[in-house]
Amino acid sequence: MNNSYTSQDNHLDSAKNLDQKEKINLRSEFHFPGNESKHETLYFCGHSLGLMPKDARKAIDTELNSWEKYGVEGHFNGPYPWLPYHENITKSFAHLVGAQENEVVAMNTLTTNLHLMLVSFYRPSQKRYKILIEKNTFPSDKYAVDSQARFHGFDAHDAIVELKTDVNDKVVSQEYLLEQIAELGDELALVMLGNCNYLSGQAFDIKAVTEKAHSVGAMCGFNLAHGAGNLALNLHDDGADFAVWCSYKYLNAGPGGIAGAFVHERHLGLKDIPRFEGWWGNNKDNRFEMRPEFDPLQTVEAWSLSNPPIFQLASLRASMNLFDQAGMKNLREKGDRLTAYLEYVLKENCGENLEIVTPSYHPEKQMRGSMLCVKIKNADTQAMFKKFQARGIIIDFREPDILRMCPAPLYNNFEDCYRLAQAIKESF
Ligand SMILES: Cc1ncc(COP(=O)(O)O)c(C=O)c1O
Repeated sequence: MNNSYTSQDNHLDSAKNLDQKEKINLRSEFHFPGNESKHETLYFCGHSLGLMPKDARKAIDTELNSWEKYGVEGHFNGPYPWLPYHENITKSFAHLVGAQENEVVAMNTLTTNLHLMLVSFYRPSQKRYKILIEKNTFPSDKYAVDSQARFHGFDAHDAIVELKTDVNDKVVSQEYLLEQIAELGDELALVMLGNCNYLSGQAFDIKAVTEKAHSVGAMCGFNLAHGAGNLALNLHDDGADFAVWCSYKYLNAGPGGIAGAFVHERHLGLKDIPRFEGWWGNNKDNRFEMRPEFDPLQTVEAWSLSNPPIFQLASLRASMNLFDQAGMKNLREKGDRLTAYLEYVLKENCGENLEIVTPSYHPEKQMRGSMLCVKIKNADTQAMFKKFQARGIIIDFREPDILRMCPAPLYNNFEDCYRLAQAIKESF
């Protein structure tokens, strides 16, 4: 199978045919929402909130049953005792982001984890205090880095540097990105990128960016809100210092799902690393001795603060089982085929009216995941978005002028993509 399509693929039968050839088809494992129009829902919002795995209810029910049956003893009893419940996610997360098991943990929420990582990996001096971020950084990430700079006594306007773009107003070429890191040189404390960027869908080369950051003496971390469960990742080998992600988007753990964090092995077990600490990061062998001094775990779990929300972990476990079944590499490959097909049918059917902001597919470099960010030319994008909603097309709108659509390889198919392009065409 390849990722290029011709006019004969621009038919419903061809789309169905392409679906037949796919080996991974876990669509029937998910609930699709209905809508009030006469049309079937076209769900392309997995980049915002992933669909509910059918097993999520069972997984949460299992824990409700344990609570009902055992009360506090549920920490030690039942099919999945709560005390080590988060460890049920570790192996899946390690596979998901290309890490060792001691480098990943499910804990907290995304912005909380980002702050925890910044406490450890943004250690500015009077000379080296700048943080390089994307031009279109997600607001919460911008608030996080701004407030961290201020916390250390710097003026955020001076300390936070936004990447300049050279491809279009949202995308930066790799050469230019690396140049900008080199230019900041010994003033640069940290590179912190959203991967993929939430507004353009651009994926960055983690290895190249990290190596460049390290070569000028800076740390390098990634927000994988749009990367975990979407990109094929290799965090350990690529050498990133840290990464954080949420689980309600591509990972389908449900609203407010528990987040993830990665800290590279080279930073584990260090005595002098600054870190905010809580009892869930304490040595498990003596945690309940209630000692006043913190005895850190030697893994990334040292960054855990609290006993985690079990129902959230349960729905995440249900979804991670599906990722384990499919394998991230296979999902990325299917995601590339679907995304390229969606791009093709959108261009073919909506042509002049659309501008695709997201970088094109590249056979050797991972330039994007399963999200297309699109501008509608000469139209009120927000009004069009409302029209789509009424028609049962679930995509999303991001200010000022971007529509985002995600063919999620776990549950979307070629037929969905074909129908989406037709529906958009009919909405003009
Ligand atoms: C790139 C990015 N960063 C941060 C956030 C904020 O996430 P949370 O509310 O889980 O902290 C989001 C949420 O959509 C996001 O997409």
